[in-house]
Amino acid sequence: DYVLYQNRIIPKNELHIDMDDRGYNFGDGIYEVVRVYNGIPFAMDEHLDRLQHSASELDMTVPYSMETIEKLVYDLIQKNEINSGMIYFQLTRGIQPRNHLYSRDIEPVLSGFSKPLETNVEWQQNGLDTWMTKDIRWLRCDIKTINLLGNIMAKREASDNNCHEALQHREGLVTEGSSSNLFIVKDDVIYTHPSTNLILNGITRRITIRLAYQIEATIKEKPFTLEELKQADEVFITSTTMEVTPVRSIKGDLTASYSIGPWTRKLQHAFTDYRK
Ligand code: PDD
Repeated sequence: DYVLYQNRIIPKNELHIDMDDRGYNFGDGIYEVVRVYNGIPFAMDEHLDRLQHSASELDMTVPYSMETIEKLVYDLIQKNEINSGMIYFQLTRGIQPRNHLYSRDIEPVLSGFSKPLETNVEWQQNGLDTWMTKDIRWLRCDIKTINLLGNIMAKREASDNNCHEALQHREGLVTEGSSSNLFIVKDDVIYTHPSTNLILNGITRRITIRLAYQIEATIKEKPFTLEELKQADEVFITSTTMEVTPVRSIKGDLTASYSIGPWTRKLQHAFTDYRK
C-alpha cells in the first residue's frame, strides 16, 4: 500500500505525519476527492482548478505545479494498481508550533491515498433515504476545506436515523447534502442551488449541469424552499463517489417520498456515457 507525501509516492509504513501539522491542530487545509475509472483520474483538470480556488481563498500557495500533482496522482494509481477507485489528497498549511496566527513562510504539506471503489448499483437503481437537518456550517462552503465538522455531524445524525445522506437547509432554503449537491425536478424544469458561498460547487454538479444542457433539459441554478422540495417530482444528488443518485425519501425537518423519474434516469445515463 503506497501513499502520496509531498512530491513522492512512498510505502505507507514509511509515512511520518508531524504532530505540529496545522491540519492536525486546526483543520487548516484543503482537499480533493477524485474518481478513478479504468485506471484514469476523472475530471482531473477541474479538481485541480478547484484546489487552486480553495488555496487562494485561504491565502495558501500550492507548492507544486498542477502537472506535478497530476503526475503524482497517476503514479499513485499505478503503484496501488487501482482500476476503479478514488484518490483523496489534501494540502495543509504546513508544520508550525501551534499558534492561531499562521506564518506565510512554512511549507505546505501534500498527502494522499487511493482506495478501490465501485459505484453502488443498488443506490443508483432504487435511490437513497435522506435526512433533512439544519445547515450549521460556516459561510464559506465554497472552499473545500478538511474542516468538516458541520458535515460530519449532519452525516452522523442521518445515519442514526437510518438514512444514507443528510440534506441541509438554511433560512428556509435548501443548500446541499453533507457530501453531495442536490437537484430537484418540477414540471420538467431542473433546479439546483446556485454556486455561492453557501455550497460547494461540485465537479459532478458542474458536469451534470452541462449534460442537462446537452440533453436539452431546462435547468435553473436557483435556490428552492423546503416546501418546493416537498412538492418536487424528482430529487437526486450528485457527487464524485455517488455520481447521479436518486433520492427516494426524506425524513427529519421535512417528510416526503419520491418515485425515480425520467430526468434522473436520463442524467444517470448521460453521466455514465460521459465518464467512459
Ligand atoms: N464530497 N458538497 C459537499 C459538501 C461535498 O463534500 C461534496 C463532495 C460535494 C460534491 O462535490 P464533487 O461532485 O466535486 O464530489 C458537494 C467528497 C466526495 C468527499 O468529501 O468525500
